[in-house]
Amino acid sequence: MKAVVVEHYDRIENITIKDVAKPDLSPGLVRVRVQAAAVGFVDGLKVQGLYQTKDPLPFTPGSEFAGVVDEVASDVDGFAPGTPVIGMVRNGGLAEYICAPAADLFVTPNGIEPEMGASFFANYLTALYALSARGKLRSGETLLVLGAAGGVGIAAVQVGKLLGARVFAAASTEEKRQFAIRFGADAGLDYTREGWRDELKELTDGHGADVIYDPVGGDLSLQAFRSIAWNGRHLVIGFASGTIPALRFNLPLLKGGALLGVDLAQIGRREPEVRDRVIAQLFTWLSSKTFVPVVGKVFAFDRFHEAFAAMTTRTALGKMVVRID
Ligand SMILES: NC(=O)c1ccc[n+]([C@@H]2O[C@H](COP(=O)([O-])OP(=O)(O)OC[C@H]3O[C@@H](n4cnc5c(N)ncnc54)[C@H](OP(=O)(O)O)[C@@H]3O)[C@@H](O)[C@H]2O)c1
Repeated sequence: MKAVVVEHYDRIENITIKDVAKPDLSPGLVRVRVQAAAVGFVDGLKVQGLYQTKDPLPFTPGSEFAGVVDEVASDVDGFAPGTPVIGMVRNGGLAEYICAPAADLFVTPNGIEPEMGASFFANYLTALYALSARGKLRSGETLLVLGAAGGVGIAAVQVGKLLGARVFAAASTEEKRQFAIRFGADAGLDYTREGWRDELKELTDGHGADVIYDPVGGDLSLQAFRSIAWNGRHLVIGFASGTIPALRFNLPLLKGGALLGVDLAQIGRREPEVRDRVIAQLFTWLSSKTFVPVVGKVFAFDRFHEAFAAMTTRTALGKMVVRID
């Protein structure tokens, strides 16, 4: 079968598709014929060995995928060959086949195309876990989403609206702000412009943001924290800007605000019941089409480099997806 293989950590241009053996089944596993795999910012860091945890070499990138069950280990129930599934794993999605633990697979609800299925898991799980379990976002509160047109950002816009918040989408271009408004944001903010915080203050009648969802980092995080409402919660999602900000402790004191970390990679181990509850809610919404995952752009398998490049060049709107079959 064909798979993207990272033999040594490198720039994405130097990574290629190779012919490798189809993965073997072992107890507890399901082999899936992958139809679509998504690429997130984290995948771009992983191939270069720049992520906080390193995947042992060689490896195939891609932690989210959608496909059809090919074959099942004899000890696994509930996944007949031909069943459409969505999965989230550590890596391996950018391949024609993947063997994944049955516990990491979910039956795809009717009417959800593979591109949507592949775009669903990490971003929406991060958004709902962050906004509900960590940020305790309540209906009627104000949510400020930074990087609002990116993968995790646009998911937070949609989920924030579903939780009843007033959502402000901060992004660097008019195209990105309009994209976020199309998916439910109440207004856009150009955070590249000086004075964007004054605009937020005006829009919220001086109240500020009850919850700040921050996948960007850098100086922008410090600016945003200064606009937090009393009893506000600033959610640390990531550092797409490449800079980890250093917040002076007098600011939380003066603002009466809290800084809260969010790490999807740890919730299965640390809060399994919360993770299960959040996943169940997301699948309920997905099955009822209460929301539809935003598929940004779809690339052919042999153009997978472009999916990664869209994120490093800051041009991605929504989730980047690679069509495998
Ligand atoms: N905590 C968790 O559990 C968790 C889970 C998933 C992802 N993440 C993190 O969330 C972050 C975003 O991931 P993503 O997949 O949503 O990425 P993405 O789709 O590329 O979005 C990132 C956004 O960040 C903004 N940005 C600002 N400076 C940038 C720069 N120098 N380069 C690229 N983007 C820049 C861009 O918006 P503007 O152009 O509008 O500024 C962009 O839309 C990453 O740091 C990732 O590691 C964390």
